[in-house]
Amino acid sequence: MKAFIEGNSIYLRAIETSDVSARYLAWMNDEEVTRGLASGAFPSNMANLSSYVEQIINSKSAVMFAICDQSTDLHIGNIKLDNFDWINRTCELGLLLGDRNYWGKGIGTEVVRLCLNYAFNQLNFRKVVLAVYANNPAAIKLYKKIGFQHEGTLRSQILYKGDYIDKHYMGIFSHEVQ
Ligand SMILES: CC(C)(COP(=O)(O)OP(=O)(O)OC[C@H]1O[C@@H](n2cnc3c(N)ncnc32)[C@H](O)[C@@H]1OP(=O)(O)O)[C@@H](O)C(=O)NCCC(=O)NCCS
Repeated sequence: MKAFIEGNSIYLRAIETSDVSARYLAWMNDEEVTRGLASGAFPSNMANLSSYVEQIINSKSAVMFAICDQSTDLHIGNIKLDNFDWINRTCELGLLLGDRNYWGKGIGTEVVRLCLNYAFNQLNFRKVVLAVYANNPAAIKLYKKIGFQHEGTLRSQILYKGDYIDKHYMGIFSHEVQ
């Protein structure tokens, strides 16, 4: 399928139900990938992953893109905007680079910038927010680098390996994107 948004090393296209593959399922059962996500507590299977993707595809208040390698077309993760609030013009961003071979190459940064440009300039949102756990320093660094501001913390909110860790909320307006 054609790119919907072109990047340098990656492009974004609409997610398809056919993207729910053994590879995608493996990401959702990889503890290193899910440690920063709400979905890590329960095992994923083809049935619940398929219905999650279908529900987003059919939603009028969410959009999810497959992140694909520009040179191979390999599906390496997803980025989504959801919780659309058309009155206050806000939405929430979620990012998953499932294929760990692609970590630490600046792809997360590139993808978030592309998605923010889409949110602000095509969907006309005013503000994008997200939640990030304290056990995810790479994500926190990435979001700060792009210009997200810390807006609040739910202290000791998330059970992680026997400890309760903080859940931070961050937000960004279009003029803050770096
Ligand atoms: C978190 C995630 C999005 C990062 O993507 P990425 O493409 O590896 O990120 P980038 O390479 O663009 O940038 C990460 C930054 O964090 C830094 N970093 C990496 N590991 C780090 C660590 N353990 N501690 C501190 N900083 C770290 C990198 O050096 C880089 O900073 P730099 O650009 O100044 O060098 C990716 O690992 C991922 O999808 N993880 C699984 C799902 C997830 O946690 N999603 C986010 C939920 S909020």
